[in-house]
Amino acid sequence: MKRIITYGTFDLLHYGHINLLKRAKELGDYLIVVLSTDEFNLNEKNKKCYFSYEKRKALLESIRYVDLVIPETCWEQKRTDIHEYHIDTFVIGDDWKGKFDYLAEEGCEVVYLSRTPEISTTQIKQDIMSGQKKQ
Ligand code: CTP
Repeated sequence: MKRIITYGTFDLLHYGHINLLKRAKELGDYLIVVLSTDEFNLNEKNKKCYFSYEKRKALLESIRYVDLVIPETCWEQKRTDIHEYHIDTFVIGDDWKGKFDYLAEEGCEVVYLSRTPEISTTQIKQDIMSGQKKQ
């Protein structure tokens, strides 16, 4: 069984997220999403989530491509997660291109998938604030 892992915040789940998860799952058989906790988002990524960790987790768990959701609490856990969960492939959107190449040292493949254009949680928040519809 080929095991895939990905990381992210996944707030206000949107079709860019779904596209990423679908393609991630297609790389193997079992997909683990490591979901940034509210504290990690705030302290390390400077992101204030609209949905709480528990709500974001429940949404992800209801997606057919996702097999397991676990918390992300620090940057360093990637190296240990890869061994603990017997990961074959680490995958993330190409906004992170090159940033996680070092994980290949742990014996897993590192894949950057192209982002879906013109959609992000930040954009949704901004559009709604200004009363705009998606272009
Ligand atoms: N992602 C993607 N295409 C998009 C938006 C996100 O492929 N249009 C991917 C990211 O590259 C990442 C995962 O989805 O691998 C989770 O991204 P996240 O940062 O939670 O979503 P964003 O919408 O980019 O959120 P923000 O605007 O807060 O950065």
